[in-house]
Amino acid sequence: MHPVPPVPAERLPALLAAMPKAELHIHIEGSLEPELIFALARRNGVALPYAGVEDLRRAYAFTNLQSFLDIYYAGASVLLQSQDFYDMAWAYLERAAADQVRRAEIFFDPQTHTARGVAMETVIDGLSRACRDAKRIGVDAELILCFLRHLSEEEAFDTLEQALPFRDRFIGVGLDSSEVGHPPEKFARVFAKCRQQGLHLVAHAGEEGPPAYVWAALDVLKVERIDHGVQSAQDPALMKRLAQDRIPLTVCPLSNLKLCVFPDLAQHNIRQLLDAGLCATINSDDPAYFGGYMNANFLQTFAATGLDAQHAYRLARNSFEGSFAEASAKKRYVEELDAVFAAA
Ligand code: ADE
Ligand code: ZN
Repeated sequence: MHPVPPVPAERLPALLAAMPKAELHIHIEGSLEPELIFALARRNGVALPYAGVEDLRRAYAFTNLQSFLDIYYAGASVLLQSQDFYDMAWAYLERAAADQVRRAEIFFDPQTHTARGVAMETVIDGLSRACRDAKRIGVDAELILCFLRHLSEEEAFDTLEQALPFRDRFIGVGLDSSEVGHPPEKFARVFAKCRQQGLHLVAHAGEEGPPAYVWAALDVLKVERIDHGVQSAQDPALMKRLAQDRIPLTVCPLSNLKLCVFPDLAQHNIRQLLDAGLCATINSDDPAYFGGYMNANFLQTFAATGLDAQHAYRLARNSFEGSFAEASAKKRYVEELDAVFAAA
């Protein structure tokens, strides 16, 4: 590993903000800020059950994952045209660029839109145009299609069929929405088909659900990364497996705080995961709803837990190594990271 120089505590926040990083866990519908929700509602003539931006923001007092998902799906109802998807993704990509995100692997939930009569092509067209344009602002952006796990495997198969004509515009598939009661096994056959298509595979597991869901995501779905995975710490054999196989965990500290997975950030287990040798990363999940994009997640987590410059380097490096970028791009990202730390 690159030797990390000691960095005085007062210089750590600037280093966290300036270091290049990859974001591997961002739901693009979770980047819809209330202002954009209302602007799109006006543009599309969609009625919302909230009086305005402030009224909507007041509803962001979540007690668990489901209490958030109900509002998140309501917010996405304003997205109708390709340009709406473009505008949403572009707003996120500009925030990512400002936070020195060099690579973003972006989740989208097509079933939230196709269920309202929006065509798969409309969704993918808008999002993929924004990803293509992001190169101009220094972000390599790719799409990962997520299946909603509260729906059936048959509906996931239908969704895959609708998306396959656009196979060249997304790099992988994931599994999100309500975790408890919807174990990975429910999607074994559709993930096997995605694997045959050469798609990358990831799944949310161990956010609120038990370690058994993380085992099943690895052994049944054969995923390459685990999204969240923080409940893995309850199972020493699982921790050993994740460390030995260097399975990346895309951890989202502010999300975990806002959805009451941990009572406060100081009690988050990110240090435990890193110190156990896991390839843990820091990500924003649904930044418009959880109060912060990438750098806010880094800054608040480091302030609350006392992580240091070694941890910062490790997290940024893990994010590049855990990404699905080509080897040559990973090498470039890590060289830039090393240069930033050498000058720190
Ligand atoms: N969809 C958007 N954010 C999610 C999360 N944190 N967990 C599961 N599904 C999600
Ligand atoms: Zn998520």
